[in-house]
Amino acid sequence: MRVDVAFTPAEPVAGPVGIVVDVLRATSTIVQALESGYGRVLCCQEVEEAFALRDARGEGVLGGERLAVLIPGFDLGNSPSEYVEPRGETAILTTTNGTRTIVAAAAQCERVFVASLLNLGAVVAAVAELAEDASVVCAGVKGAFALDDAFCAGRIVSLLDCERTDSAEAAARLTRTFASAEEALGASRSAANLRVNGLDADVAWCARESICAVVPRFLAMTGGAAEIGA
Ligand code: MLT
Repeated sequence: MRVDVAFTPAEPVAGPVGIVVDVLRATSTIVQALESGYGRVLCCQEVEEAFALRDARGEGVLGGERLAVLIPGFDLGNSPSEYVEPRGETAILTTTNGTRTIVAAAAQCERVFVASLLNLGAVVAAVAELAEDASVVCAGVKGAFALDDAFCAGRIVSLLDCERTDSAEAAARLTRTFASAEEALGASRSAANLRVNGLDADVAWCARESICAVVPRFLAMTGGAAEIGA
């Protein structure tokens, strides 16, 4: 089993299994929502698409962010803590980078998992059991490398018994330069952006490892959105 890391979403995905990471905060939020009892998360690329999807379904909690904050007319932002108490069966989520990366990965990979530090151990166990070549796909920030995602990718690689591409080896080595996940996430531009918006608590929340058992995976395209379920 060979594991690669795509540090940015534009890099080619090598392998039938895609593991999407947007640790601050989209994939952490999806993990938390499914762990808390939402039945599915519909990942949309655009705000208008999310509104249209809810109208068409007649149900769904609208969540996500633009510029890190709540989208006007939406029910929830993109803090995982907002998803601890399910407000419905379906969360309809649109975020700047993460939900787009999931939709793109669904078009490229045979199987897609959604990973964060919160469900690190569970995702690693699921990928190891499959024993197929895999790519960790980092959502990054607007196409660029993001330290928080690279750290999470490195933690995934470090826990897998696998052949590593050079980028996977680099990600694994990067994790060893930090004393803790909170320190690594805290050093990222994504964290700085959250702090500017008073969302500091999300960094510590998302830095906790392996506290969720859920392994979210892509199920199907639903009205242009990637449906993610456990
Ligand atoms: C993203 O998709 O880029 C993130 O959700 C950004 C954020 O949480 O603020």
